Amino acid sequence: MISGLDDVIAAETMLSDVDGLNGRLVIAGHSLDDLAGRTSYEAMLALLLGEFLQADTAAITRNLAAARREVHAYVEGIDAAILALSPIEALRAMIARLPDGEDRDTAYRLLAAPAVFTPALLRMQQGLPVIAPSETLGHAADMLAMLLGTVPAEEQAKALDTYLVTVSDHGLNASTFAARVVASTRAGLTSAILAALSALKGPLHGGAPGPVLDMLDSVGTPERAEAVLAAELARGERLMGFGHRIYRVRDPRADALKAALQQLAKAGAVPAGRLALAEAVEGAALVLLRQKKPDRALETNVEFYTALLLEALGLPREAFTCVFAAGRVGGWIGHAREQIDHGRLIRPQSKYIGPLAA
Ligand code: ACO
Repeated sequence: MISGLDDVIAAETMLSDVDGLNGRLVIAGHSLDDLAGRTSYEAMLALLLGEFLQADTAAITRNLAAARREVHAYVEGIDAAILALSPIEALRAMIARLPDGEDRDTAYRLLAAPAVFTPALLRMQQGLPVIAPSETLGHAADMLAMLLGTVPAEEQAKALDTYLVTVSDHGLNASTFAARVVASTRAGLTSAILAALSALKGPLHGGAPGPVLDMLDSVGTPERAEAVLAAELARGERLMGFGHRIYRVRDPRADALKAALQQLAKAGAVPAGRLALAEAVEGAALVLLRQKKPDRALETNVEFYTALLLEALGLPREAFTCVFAAGRVGGWIGHAREQIDHGRLIRPQSKYIGPLAA
C-alpha cells in the first residue's frame, strides 16, 4: 500500500500539538481542557491568529462581525445550480467566489464565510428566507441565529462555541496539509481554504459525523447496538466516529464534546434517550473493535460526539462538515500563514515504479 506519510514531519508549527499516545491536545500553548467551554471562538482566533491579524479578542470580535456582514452580500449570488449541490459542495462553490489574497481582509472574509454561507444555503434549500447577520451577537450565536431564525438560547450558543474552539486546529491533518501545500505555491488564502475544504469533505476525515447518526439510526435502541455493529463489521464496513491516525487512546476532543452535550442535555436540549443510545453504541463499538483489532487501538474520535452535539443544536446531518469547516478555518489560515511567512514551496518526490523507457 502507498504510504500515508505516517510519522513524517512535514512542517513546524506554533499552532497545535497532538500527543496521540497520551491523548493530549495543545492549541496555541493551551491544553484543550483549558479552552473548551471556557474560551470563545473569537478568543481562540486571537490565540491562533492574533499576531497576523494584529488584533486582540475585542478587535477580532468587531472585525469578524463586520466580515460576516460583508460576506452576506455574496448570498444573493446563490443560484439553483449551487442549491442543487450537497451543502459542503455548495459552501465550496460560494467560497470560490470570494477574492483571493494573502492579506488580513481575505482572512476575515474566509473566517466568516462558513458561518454565513452554511445557514443561508440550508435555509434556501428548505425554501426559507435567509437571515442577515446580527450587529451584536458573537460568532457562534450569530451562526445559529442565521440558521434557526431566532436568537439561540445561551446554552446552545455556548455549545456551538465549544465545538468551534474544540475543532479549531489539530496538527497536520489531511485538510491542513492540503492548505499548507497550496499556500506554499503562493496561490492565496482563498485557494488554500478551498483545497482544505475539499480534503475535509471525505468520509475518512470531516465527512464522518453525518454517517455516525445514520449508524445510530440503524441501531435504533441500546439493546440492538452490539448485534447491529457486529453485522456492520462483518460486512467489512468501518464504524464511523472510531479510529484515528494519531491517537492510540481516546481522542480528547470526544471528551470535550461529550461534556458540552451533557450540558445541553441538562438544559433539556437533547432528545430523551439519545445520550443513552450513543453511550450504548460507543460501548459496544469499543468492545467489538478491540476484538477485531487487538493490536491496533481504535478509540472514539472527535466525530462521534460532534454528530450528537450538532444534531442537538438543530443542524441537519448533511451540513455537519460545513460546521466543522467553520471552526477549522481558523487553524487552516494559521497554517497557511505560517507556510507563507516561514516556509518554502512544498514539493516532495515520488519513487518511479513503472516500466523503464526502451
Ligand atoms: N472501524 C473498523 N475498522 C477500522 C476503523 C473503524 N472505524 N478504523 C480503522 N479500522 C481498521 C482498518 O480496517 C484497518 O484494518 P486492516 O489492517 O485489517 O486493513 C486498520 O484498522 C487500520 O486502519 P487504517 O485505515 O490503516 O488506519 P488509518 O490511520 O489510515 O485510519 C481513520 C484512520 C481513517 C480515521 C480510520 O480509523 C477510519 O476510517 N475511521 C472511521 C472514519 C472516521 O471516523 N473518520 C473521522 C476521523 S477524525 C477526523 O478526521 C476529523
